[in-house]
Amino acid sequence: MAHTFVVLDSARHDRAGFTCGVAALDDYLRQWAGQHQRDGIATTHVLIDDTQPRRILAYCTLSAAQLYLHKLREEDRKRLPAYPVPAIRLARLAVSQAERGKGYGPLLLGHAANLALSVRQTMGVRVLLVDAKDAQAAAFYEAFGFRRTANTALTLYLPIGRY
Ligand SMILES: CC(C)(COP(=O)(O)OP(=O)(O)OC[C@H]1O[C@@H](n2cnc3c(N)ncnc32)[C@H](O)[C@@H]1OP(=O)(O)O)[C@@H](O)C(=O)NCCC(=O)NCCS
Repeated sequence: MAHTFVVLDSARHDRAGFTCGVAALDDYLRQWAGQHQRDGIATTHVLIDDTQPRRILAYCTLSAAQLYLHKLREEDRKRLPAYPVPAIRLARLAVSQAERGKGYGPLLLGHAANLALSVRQTMGVRVLLVDAKDAQAAAFYEAFGFRRTANTALTLYLPIGRY
């Protein structure tokens, strides 16, 4: 069995069968993700197992965003121009309740970071941005290198840095 990330296809993926334990995240996938994708608001990426390609194991949703420069820590502001910082917002991230503890959460983060790096081939992106829904979610992101913004504790960013 192989795991693959693909862009959500409402006709192919079983959105109704996905439950992560947070109603707002389940509802988003069922009711809004497809519409937001068609409208150019956000794109949802789903993790599937090739042997059961309809079943969504986990998902994340991405949008273009920006962050005010002063929200970055001082060390992350070095050499940056005095403009808002180009960002990709990790707008939603959830793992199916049945699939918890298998490392899919970190896999989603890695996928989002890879996508941000590939976007850089065509336009600037400096940080991955996330609005954690609560302190526990913020702790999850912090464990993987995200940093809290100076003023808003639940907004975190991952510097993508130079390369
Ligand atoms: C948070 C969530 C994405 C974690 O996904 P997961 O695939 O179950 O993650 P895992 O349990 O496999 O954990 C992977 C690693 O993350 C760490 N981790 C998980 N939750 C953590 C937390 N709240 N704080 C710190 N570390 C955390 C684990 O310790 C583990 O690290 P290890 O391998 O070094 O032990 C998942 O529980 C989920 O979808 N929750 C509901 C929705 C949600 O909260 N979304 C994010 C908020 S906006």
